[in-house]
Amino acid sequence: MQRAYSPADTLIAHADRVLRTLAGHAKTTGRDNPADATEHTKLDDDDAKLSAQLMRVNHAGEVAAQALYQGQSLTARNKDVQEKLTQAAEEENDHLAWCRKRLDELGEQTSILDPFWYLGSLAIGATAGLAGDKWSLGFLAETERQVVQHIDSHLEKLPDSDHKTRAILEQMHEDENQHATTAIEQGGVELPEPIKQSMQLVSKIMTKTSFWV
Ligand SMILES: [Fe+2]
Ligand SMILES: [Fe+2]
Repeated sequence: MQRAYSPADTLIAHADRVLRTLAGHAKTTGRDNPADATEHTKLDDDDAKLSAQLMRVNHAGEVAAQALYQGQSLTARNKDVQEKLTQAAEEENDHLAWCRKRLDELGEQTSILDPFWYLGSLAIGATAGLAGDKWSLGFLAETERQVVQHIDSHLEKLPDSDHKTRAILEQMHEDENQHATTAIEQGGVELPEPIKQSMQLVSKIMTKTSFWV
C-alpha cells in the first residue's frame, strides 16, 4: 500500500534535495557525460583558466535552475505539470554533475555564492508558481531561452581546444531548448517585457559574479 505523504515528509524531501544539490549528490537521469566520448586534449594555463571560469558560471546557473524547478514544484497545481517539471529538474541535475566534474578536472572551485543563488532562485521559483501554472511555465520558458542565449555566448568564448567542455555545453544547449519547448507546450504564456528585462539583469549579476568567485 502506498503511504500518503504528510507536510513534514514533503518538507524533509525538499530539504534533502537542497542539501544534495549543494553537495553535488543530486538525483540525475543517469545519462552518459557527453565529455566522456571526446578525446582528452591538454589545455595551456590561460585556456584552462578561462574554461574553468566559464564552467563556474554554468555550474552556478544550474544550481539556480535546480532551485527554480524545485520552487515551482512546491507550488505547481497540475499533476502533469509537476511531472514534467520533475523530469526537467533531473536533467538539470545531469548538467549540474557534468559542470561540476569538468570544473574539478580544470582545477577550480564552484562559486562560493552557490547557496545564495540557490535560495534566491528557490524564492523566485515559488513566487512564480504562486502566480499560477501558466505564468510559472512562461517564466520557466523565458529562463530556458535566456540560458540558451547564454550558452551560445559561452560556446563562442570557449577555447577551441577544449572539446570536453564544448561537448557538455552542446548537450545542455539541446536540453534547455527542449525545456523551453516543453514549458510552452504545457501552457506557459509569454511574459511582459519588463519582467524579461529584470530576469536578464538578475542573470547578468549572477554570471558576472560567479565568473570570478
Ligand atoms: Fe541546465
Ligand atoms: Fe533547463
